[in-house]
Amino acid sequence: MTPPAPVRAVVLGPTYCDLVFGGLERLPELGEERFARSFRVAPGGSAITAIALHRLGHAVGLVADVGRDALAGWLRDALTREGVGIDALRAVQEPTPVTAALSTAADRAFVTYLEPPGPAPDLTAVLRRAAATHLHVAGFPAALAAPDLVDLAHALGATVSFDPGWDGRALADPRVRRVALAADVLLPNRLEAGLLLAEDGDGGAPPTAEAALARLAALRPGRVTVVKDGAAGAWGMGVDDAASGEAPGAPARSADPSAPAWVPAPSVDAIDATGAGDVFDAGFLDAWWAGEPLDACLHRGAWCGARATTAYGGATAAPTRAQLDALWRADSGGTT
Ligand SMILES: Nc1ncnc2c1ncn2[C@@H]1O[C@H](COP(=O)(O)OP(=O)(O)OP(=O)(O)O)[C@@H](O)[C@H]1O
Ligand SMILES: [Mg+2]
Repeated sequence: MTPPAPVRAVVLGPTYCDLVFGGLERLPELGEERFARSFRVAPGGSAITAIALHRLGHAVGLVADVGRDALAGWLRDALTREGVGIDALRAVQEPTPVTAALSTAADRAFVTYLEPPGPAPDLTAVLRRAAATHLHVAGFPAALAAPDLVDLAHALGATVSFDPGWDGRALADPRVRRVALAADVLLPNRLEAGLLLAEDGDGGAPPTAEAALARLAALRPGRVTVVKDGAAGAWGMGVDDAASGEAPGAPARSADPSAPAWVPAPSVDAIDATGAGDVFDAGFLDAWWAGEPLDACLHRGAWCGARATTAYGGATAAPTRAQLDALWRADSGGTT
């Protein structure tokens, strides 16, 4: 497996303090109290991809709004312990965004509190200060606040990836769509891909992941498009050398860019799928930066996403470089 030269990346998007209640037999009814088998406080939202990228050896700064409260202090400490740059965390919200995740064997439920966003950060200044060569946009709020962010990043020679996250209304917003169509790498899950496509025909009915991929990729010629599909794996389509000229610094692709690729989800003992998609993003980008073919990018994403499901908390089980190498050796039958 080719590790990339370390990349200087900025991750932009809301970050949360996740309160993860694990092993509930079922969700409580109104008026009822239930006891979880486990509890963990974990960095959530954009922090998940930031931590996962740093564990793979990249220099990462996080741009997000937090409060001046105890949760913000906890988040700063956790991110610093993980090696993620927090210079661009702004204390402008009160309280720090928070999510309670209730996890049963069958599914999860979330309650989130997030203040309306403050003024958009000066992205050009942040990217310059970080000498970033890549901007990862985690979630639709950043696209709503700065729909020209791909142009800003490209003007500084940085490539851009976008994981929109889920929101029925926001993903139909033209500002989000603009970022989704322009990003060098687009990383929605199947439902999110359907929402991004709603304007193009079928009212947002979730198509199959493969069909969603074909339609999204057709709207984004010359770019990399991925559709994640949970335990059903992930689909992707690549770009070629000629097209990568539009994206400064984008690595050359070797495979037929018009051919879709699919990878299965590795078989693991999954206990919490929260953040699997965000950790997938880190693995995919890690391989893309190394100039790997699309198939390898998808595999690296899938190993990272699968590993993330094996512990409560989005980035808790995000692999280090050594752990990723071990997963790759195991998956290729120890033939390395
Ligand atoms: N149960 C699972 N077992 C193995 N791998 C999984 C499982 N769930 C997810 N993955 C891996 O992680 C990838 C991303 O997961 P998923 O499609 O759930 O993303 P997502 O919906 O964006 O997740 P989230 O937004 O909660 O981070 C999948 O494509 C797959 O490779
Ligand atoms: Mg996701």
